[in-house]
Amino acid sequence: MGIKVNEFQKTITLHTQNTSYQMKIGNLDYLIHLYYGPTIPDVDLSYQIKQYDRGFSGNPYESRNARTFSLDAQPQEFSTQQQGDFRAASIEVVNGDGSYSFNGRVVDYKIKKGKYCLETMPSVFATESDTADTLEVTLEDAVTGVQVILIYGVFEEADMITRAVKVKNTGTKSIQLQKIMSTCLDFLNGSKMDLISFPGRYGQERQVERQPMTHHIHTIGSVRGTSSHQQNPFVILCDRDVSEDYGNCYGFSLMYSGNFLAEAELDQYDQIRFGMGIHPKQFSFEIKPGEVFEGPEVVMAFTTKGLTGLTHLYHDFYRKNLCKSKFVKDVRRPVLINSWEAAFMDFDDVKLVEIAKAAKEMGVELLVMDDGWFGKRDDDNSGLGDWYVNEKKIKCGLHKLVEQINDLGMKFGIWFEPEMVSEDSDLYRTHPEWTMEIPGRPAVRSRNQLVLDMSREEVQDYLIKEVNSILNDANIYYVKWDINRSLADIWSNAQPAEKQGEVYHRYILGLYRVMDQIIKTHPDILFEGCSGGGGRYDPAMLSYYPQYWVSDNNHPIDRLKLHYGTSFVYPISTMGAHISDSGKFVPLRTKAVVAMCGTFGYELDATHLSKEEQKICKEQSDLFRKYYHIIFEGDYYRLSNPFEVGNMTAWQHVLKDKSESLLSVVVTNLTCNGPQEYVKAKGLDPMAFYSINDGEAIYSGAALMNAGIPIDREIPEYTAFQFHMKKID
Ligand code: GLA
Repeated sequence: MGIKVNEFQKTITLHTQNTSYQMKIGNLDYLIHLYYGPTIPDVDLSYQIKQYDRGFSGNPYESRNARTFSLDAQPQEFSTQQQGDFRAASIEVVNGDGSYSFNGRVVDYKIKKGKYCLETMPSVFATESDTADTLEVTLEDAVTGVQVILIYGVFEEADMITRAVKVKNTGTKSIQLQKIMSTCLDFLNGSKMDLISFPGRYGQERQVERQPMTHHIHTIGSVRGTSSHQQNPFVILCDRDVSEDYGNCYGFSLMYSGNFLAEAELDQYDQIRFGMGIHPKQFSFEIKPGEVFEGPEVVMAFTTKGLTGLTHLYHDFYRKNLCKSKFVKDVRRPVLINSWEAAFMDFDDVKLVEIAKAAKEMGVELLVMDDGWFGKRDDDNSGLGDWYVNEKKIKCGLHKLVEQINDLGMKFGIWFEPEMVSEDSDLYRTHPEWTMEIPGRPAVRSRNQLVLDMSREEVQDYLIKEVNSILNDANIYYVKWDINRSLADIWSNAQPAEKQGEVYHRYILGLYRVMDQIIKTHPDILFEGCSGGGGRYDPAMLSYYPQYWVSDNNHPIDRLKLHYGTSFVYPISTMGAHISDSGKFVPLRTKAVVAMCGTFGYELDATHLSKEEQKICKEQSDLFRKYYHIIFEGDYYRLSNPFEVGNMTAWQHVLKDKSESLLSVVVTNLTCNGPQEYVKAKGLDPMAFYSINDGEAIYSGAALMNAGIPIDREIPEYTAFQFHMKKID
């Protein structure tokens, strides 16, 4: 059992294989946080906390004249409100009497075998090979009866701890919840820590930023209604000396697709408080007596093995415990071609069949019909919401089109953007009240489209019915689920004025319901998420879709940064990556090497390629299939940082048993008459010898890792190299 209670010490210690996490029911029954780090025995770590009379700090009334215990300085599992702790709060609640106060003390705890499930939101699950346990600690405010239930999931072998929170109103009056953080982690000394986040923008998602913690609240979050292009709900706190291979790192990954907030505060005593959860912007949720509000899950990891060690923990966990699709491990994902950059909305059934025929020669297995096939949709000003086939374009009908593609020996995929509506659509004309528009104010347009009110059950039911009916109508193997704008005009016609603060969150709950129902009805379909590229790339989405489109930016050199940033937490098997026309001066082979750091496919008009180009593509598709198991199951290593000035970007996948590896290098900037460059491999067996590219050379594992591979200099610009390494028995 990974959860140990010591009733005498009043400590509860969570143990995974290599980490421990300790809390204690402390003075006045406050739940004190004591430790998260490398494994320790069940000793009481409260000796770490020294109490002083610090000027100006508040003391609980029960302390009477003793002035040393102040919540402002205690490390806690969840903060109070208006009790003298002035740091970033875990909760803000308005009680039935109008007071803003929560004074949570421990009243109960329970330990359960297995991993908890959340009722309204996705969460990670335990498989048969996991030892997983659940701890629930209930904090209660004695005056109002408001309870906060802290939930912890402990995955022993995976070295992961999850946290979630429920707020239960056991009082007699309704309360308004205005802020709720799913996790609060207090570090006793954080002055020498760095914060790493993944900011970006459309076309440049998940770039990497590392900053030293200074004395203020560092906030990372989204108020765009989606987890967003601009920030990602994944944050790392690490020691300042952390590198890829060495050092203490903490990861926090939030399973939520809407507005989120991560707050890291370095306080006056150099302690850090880290909180993560739903963003409090325009959030006010009524909890009536007897009702429970559930917050999303945070997946936490700690390692001493640097950023690569942290990445391996998340990759392994998310590949196994996040998504139940058969495409995660049982069925190989097909090499696809997508019609978007080939034809945009200018296609018909004949054109699609032509693309498919040409793509077949390139080793492609799946044709995806992207935007433009439905309603009246010749440009992006109309049609969204009308999820029926436009027979002016698909003249033979969907069923026949799919048959023609299947007759070529290929599979068929289709694009949807269910959450959106065009004003010029039958849906909008019939149900204008289903759109998010604040009464009396014209709505903000973005890509000339409006947002459907996903919080409404009728809207959810409509989408479930319409999308399912298309999926039932033909032999559809793949669905790309897109959302192409941020939310604004947050208003639901289905809610009274005083409940509009619930709409952002209810939107996300509605979305999860729709996806859940559609995916459960079609478990054999491969789903890929998309949001104007990678604008909603988060673990909650990845619990539904095994893959997500990284970015609309297909330029292979930009992609080096995009894949690098995305790889910190999200497995390579989730990263949608295609070869397109973008990158005029970059050889096709280099584009392929880059797209192999992901799900691999094409996004171009295959009919325009020469026979020679088609042949290169066929070779690359075959190589991807050959290396698939290494790319999808291997440990991933970032061998260089594309954000630093350098001449090349390199990365590597290594099978767990070290028997095979694929090392890729893209030369981005060759200097004239420059020095010889080497790439050092990682993760190999130092005692073994490896055959390189089917016998081109044989090198020792130790040499490959310590001396490296020399990279040819006499090469054209943007040349890429792939070194497939196979251990010799
Ligand atoms: C978004 C996606 C693209 C494509 C278009 C279609 O931008 O990211 O891949 O599907 O929408 O409108």
